[in-house]
Amino acid sequence: MAGFKSIAVNGLVALSGVSALSPQRPRFSQDHSQVPIGAGAHGDDKPLVETEALQAKISGKRLLERAGDLFKIAKSSERDHGRPTRVIGSVGHAGTIAYIYSNLEPLRDYYDVSSQTFTAVSGTVYEHRLVLDNHVSNDAFPMSLTPPTKNKEPVDGDLILVDNEGCDAKDYPKEVSGNIAFIKRGTCPFGTKSELAGKAGAVAAVVYNYESGPVSGTLGTPTPDHVATFGLDGSVAGKYIEKLEAGKTIKATAYIDAVVETIKTDNVIAQTKGGDPDNCVMLGGHSDSVGEGPGINDDGSGTLSLIEVAVQLANFKINNCVRFAWWSAEEEGLLGSDHYVAALPAEENKKIRLFMDYDMLASPNFAYQVYDARDKVNPAGSQALRDLYVDWYTEHGLNYTFIPFDGRSDYDGFIRHGIPAGGIATGAEGIKSKSEAAAFGGEDGVPYDVCYHAICDNLQNVNVTAWEVNTKLVAHSVAKFAASFEGFPKRTIDSINLATVPTEESYEKKTKYHGSKLSI
Ligand SMILES: *[C@@H]1O[C@H](CO)[C@@H](O)[C@H](O)[C@H]1NC(C)=O
Ligand SMILES: *[C@@H]1O[C@H](CO)[C@@H](O)[C@H](O)[C@H]1NC(C)=O
Repeated sequence: MAGFKSIAVNGLVALSGVSALSPQRPRFSQDHSQVPIGAGAHGDDKPLVETEALQAKISGKRLLERAGDLFKIAKSSERDHGRPTRVIGSVGHAGTIAYIYSNLEPLRDYYDVSSQTFTAVSGTVYEHRLVLDNHVSNDAFPMSLTPPTKNKEPVDGDLILVDNEGCDAKDYPKEVSGNIAFIKRGTCPFGTKSELAGKAGAVAAVVYNYESGPVSGTLGTPTPDHVATFGLDGSVAGKYIEKLEAGKTIKATAYIDAVVETIKTDNVIAQTKGGDPDNCVMLGGHSDSVGEGPGINDDGSGTLSLIEVAVQLANFKINNCVRFAWWSAEEEGLLGSDHYVAALPAEENKKIRLFMDYDMLASPNFAYQVYDARDKVNPAGSQALRDLYVDWYTEHGLNYTFIPFDGRSDYDGFIRHGIPAGGIATGAEGIKSKSEAAAFGGEDGVPYDVCYHAICDNLQNVNVTAWEVNTKLVAHSVAKFAASFEGFPKRTIDSINLATVPTEESYEKKTKYHGSKLSI
């Protein structure tokens, strides 16, 4: 699941190519879309993929061994980062990509493997402080991708209330210049507010929530006019607004020490040589973790499930092509998957019959969560995929729960570009309810993953039962569509265009989150 540090895609189309990250990386093609695919007889002597046979090859023990490998890889970042992590740009992330390649290398007769390099902007906040009316605020947090305050020093000014929601230059009174803009959340992205505040001469900006609760937001793609920006909890904003509206002055000091830097990073794509290349089943997980920890559940679990399913699938013949993706920079705002989908020409887009997202499959206090993807607001076929998961859990006597399909993981770019999508997960920072504890075991009143985006997302932070169950379900989803798309809606060029016109309901859902950070 997308996370705390933040990044924005370089709007320009990124370069494609094999980077120097991994010296043992085999010579694969640079861009999978240019690879001659299909025609070969690869796997023709093998049995046709069958779901039970593929599922039978999945073992929790093997997944745990792989988690051990991944934890060692995360530890290689300790020297630079002071902790195990697989955050983009780290040795641990490069090692993760090398690990994916090394597992696919023996299967080069079965898969074409490629990497897609793209540029991401990574932000790190080292220190921050906001003083309002002589009190250090514990309710204010820097937005992801915020620039530092001037010279990375504290800046002082009066807190100036901005009109409306600060989405228009006219909303900024001239007193904002040289002072700190106080802006209500809503209507337009945080990045727009920060930019307008900067243009009005503000030395910093504070966006207060319109509802009770903190604002965990991102400014998105940096612009030269962004100023250091905090999000303030809505439950404390009222007293400041009252005072300002009464014409009183509020002194403020803002301080953010941060850097925003550009990084090149890689998606890894593996596509079967066999199977109909015009009808692909695609699935993905993200190869990166947050900087805070090793990311064994998030998304080591999905990364390793995909590796294991890819390895086992190679024992079978398939009718439809299968394309695996390990996305980079998901935690920075779904950058890798966004980049991938945005760069697809319409003809290539159309070949992807559906995309299945596998992000966090082994949460220690898990629930079996299915994205509630409905055809009413998503590309046709999303609901059939949802029901495939539901049917499988039901057939296995397991409970499941629906969760919002609201843009928090890598399926987002796909549905925005008309490709049916869905997926399963086991829960992040959310709290397990009593009824969920009855349905899934575990503890109520406790997060699904207490170590979400934390240093303790380590080898102890997985439930192997849930992980094995879900990896078998991943295998099922691949086996089913690799064998046949019968009854599954066909893609058309029209469906690509139609899907980009959001309905009111989908617009609200799809703009609020993009990754785990709010953008608006
Ligand atoms: C499913 O949930 C019900 C309670 O809602 C519970 O009684 C049952 O044991 C659960 N089934 C499994 C397999 O955990
Ligand atoms: C995993 O979850 C199952 C079902 O709730 C539970 O019985 C088991 O003890 C858990 N395992 C671990 C290692 O937490």
